[in-house]
Amino acid sequence: MQAICLGLKRKGRKIAFVPTMGALHEGHLSLVRRARKLGDTVVVSVFVNPTQFAPGEDFARYPRPLSADKRLLVTEKVDLLFLPTASDIYSTDHSTFVDVEEISSILEGAARPGHFRGVATVVAKLLNVVCPDVAVFGQKDGQQVAMIKSMVRHLNFPARIVVAPTVRERSGLAMSSRNRYFNQEQLSRASCIHRGMRAAEALAIAGEEDPAKIEAAARSEIEPTPGVRIDYIAILDPDDLRTLDRVEGKAGIFVAVWLDGVRLIDNIIVRPSRRGRK
Ligand code: PAF
Repeated sequence: MQAICLGLKRKGRKIAFVPTMGALHEGHLSLVRRARKLGDTVVVSVFVNPTQFAPGEDFARYPRPLSADKRLLVTEKVDLLFLPTASDIYSTDHSTFVDVEEISSILEGAARPGHFRGVATVVAKLLNVVCPDVAVFGQKDGQQVAMIKSMVRHLNFPARIVVAPTVRERSGLAMSSRNRYFNQEQLSRASCIHRGMRAAEALAIAGEEDPAKIEAAARSEIEPTPGVRIDYIAILDPDDLRTLDRVEGKAGIFVAVWLDGVRLIDNIIVRPSRRGRK
């Protein structure tokens, strides 16, 4: 794969890369379409990366509908599909890992120890194999995006990181491969996450600057939903995930909930204007 990609680059091709774990949905396809606009060769990887799952997580049951994924990628006219096995990526003596320390220690990092180390390591390896000019990630995994941008900066990867907006169901629920675990009734309950974030956003736009009050607005929308347990709702700087004392400019509302035993994450970025604020 590396030889093919380097060969393409020598011929002057601009490689746009979309790394995925498969179980593709409209969210992934929007990343592929964005990649198409950014490069002249679109490479997609499908690899369910074992090192980003902690013991007891859903690695074994993570959906792997490979034939359907391939059909979607053909429809999107993707140039190259990289489909490595675990042993292609991790040799038996593999013992080098990438840790983006600060950003990986909070939110998802606190709840899923080792998760971001696994993500950073595999993304570093994929960037080294595919050598893209640009790599496209979804805002849906907001903390992952912040971490990858830091890693690329800290380790001087030559790739440009582009972030594409979250694609949502009509209910507002963010598209996610893990939504496949749910039936219609559960999907409808899961839409409380989006309602909560929008309630928080409305308060911030109305002029509320206190992160605790903005968080409470989201909580009061999400908490009463049956079967839902909130892990966190955090109002943070979306770029470096610093805690905000006041919401005066751009702010990220990050949410993680458990719904009937499945963990769901989402975020939105709010941009309250100065006008009309108290
Ligand atoms: O976002 C994902 O699907 C994965 O975390 C990624 C970036 C493909 C790494 O395995």
